[in-house]
Amino acid sequence: MASYLLAIDQGTTSSRAILFDRHGRSIATAQREFPQQFPADGWVEHDPEAIWDSVVATCREVIERQGVALEEIAGIGITNQRETTLLWDRETGVPLYNAIVWQDRRTADRCQSLREAGHTDLVQARTGLLIDPYFSATKLAWLLDNVEGARERAERGELAFGTVDTFLIWRLTGGRVHATDATNASRTALFDIHAQRWDPELLALFDIPASLLPEVRDSSDDFGQTRADLLGEALPIAGVAGDQQAALVGQACFTPGMGKSTYGTGCFMIVNTGEQAEVSRNRLLTTVGYRLNGVPTYAMEGSIFVAGATVQWLRDGLKLFADAAETESLAGETKSGHSVYLVPAFTGLGAPHWDPKARGAILGLTRDTGIAEIVAAGLQAVCYQTRDLQACMSDDMSTPPGTLRVDGGMVANNWVMQFLSDMLGVQVDRPGILETTALGAAYLAGLQLGWYRDLDEIAALWHCERSFTPAMDEAERERLYAGWLEAVDRVRCSPE
Ligand code: G3P
Repeated sequence: MASYLLAIDQGTTSSRAILFDRHGRSIATAQREFPQQFPADGWVEHDPEAIWDSVVATCREVIERQGVALEEIAGIGITNQRETTLLWDRETGVPLYNAIVWQDRRTADRCQSLREAGHTDLVQARTGLLIDPYFSATKLAWLLDNVEGARERAERGELAFGTVDTFLIWRLTGGRVHATDATNASRTALFDIHAQRWDPELLALFDIPASLLPEVRDSSDDFGQTRADLLGEALPIAGVAGDQQAALVGQACFTPGMGKSTYGTGCFMIVNTGEQAEVSRNRLLTTVGYRLNGVPTYAMEGSIFVAGATVQWLRDGLKLFADAAETESLAGETKSGHSVYLVPAFTGLGAPHWDPKARGAILGLTRDTGIAEIVAAGLQAVCYQTRDLQACMSDDMSTPPGTLRVDGGMVANNWVMQFLSDMLGVQVDRPGILETTALGAAYLAGLQLGWYRDLDEIAALWHCERSFTPAMDEAERERLYAGWLEAVDRVRCSPE
């Protein structure tokens, strides 16, 4: 009997392949980074072949390293950086252009004219999203309009569009399956999240031919078999979800009000809202959390573009320390209540401001400000931004978020987790297994393959490694947060 599930986690800066056992324990991991391309100001691209090569290489590596026979692997779950947009030739499988990455702002002007023409309400009502370059629709339109011959070829039905999951499924199945799952579809701005279908009016608005689109399946579903020659034997692809939704599953946030925050390059807070697609009055996103047996579970999402990237900048840009692990003791040296604020608006501000032209700043410097205070301010910014999202969610949702489950690289830092709990005024739970994104993809595949009966069985596998409870008094919490709001106001560019 098979003992493992293979999770592919195709992220923004690296691809990972992880083998999980039935208890959700990670048995072996392989990881490869690939180059980021910045061809112009605000543009971010990936070479699709580099993505593909890194995925195949990590899958082979993890299988070989662990000495696992293919029969021991029940199937594959895929999770991926979301929104990133690819267009390829159906005949050859060759992409016409690089993947345009979710961070890419090249379609900012197009989005602005769509907003000015009054289309925001339609897009929000159907998709739960805002009109922003972040999502796939305007990226795909850009490809059709700027790659020579692409639009004509698309009209003739010769091309296929996909987010990264779809591209990988296509390649892994040797072009036999052109499909995505509902979570990834919900990030394109072309998918009606209520009717669960591609929306003809939005396709017309963004000028996208329907022939390009993949079929939308459940997050646990049959996505075909891999080409036998790739890994040595054909394996079923049985689970697919965008990385932040996969983390929601990996964190077992299955009931309304349960939420998770993932602190990677950026920070994405997602709270389950059950069968209700709740609409934000505070410019957060409504999204599909997962779809099982044709039934969508919705979620509300706050997306912050820069979290761990601040630590990277403090380390590599300012060279304030050599290793991210040092930040915990450095921050611990600061006097509590210092008033230095670092607003990490390196690429503008995401939710709830959506201000692409804002830029970063360090404020409140005094003669006794040292490295420790600046580092602490960088770490605290991530917590203040989570508080921004929590405030919006509390106002928006009928079941506001309570205890928060956290994951991602930054959560190893106990100082940050304590400050996060202090700033939010809620308990913060760090799970025993931190590979929640890949784990979520494995669980989704496991559900399809009959490894798990239902979500309750998966929820029972989740366990807490450490809880952080608020210890700061309320007046201090509010004083510090008011200082943050003032700092953000100073860097804002576009009025609300
Ligand atoms: O929406 C973008 C998100 O899916 C990217 O996640 O972890 O690849 O930075 P990550």
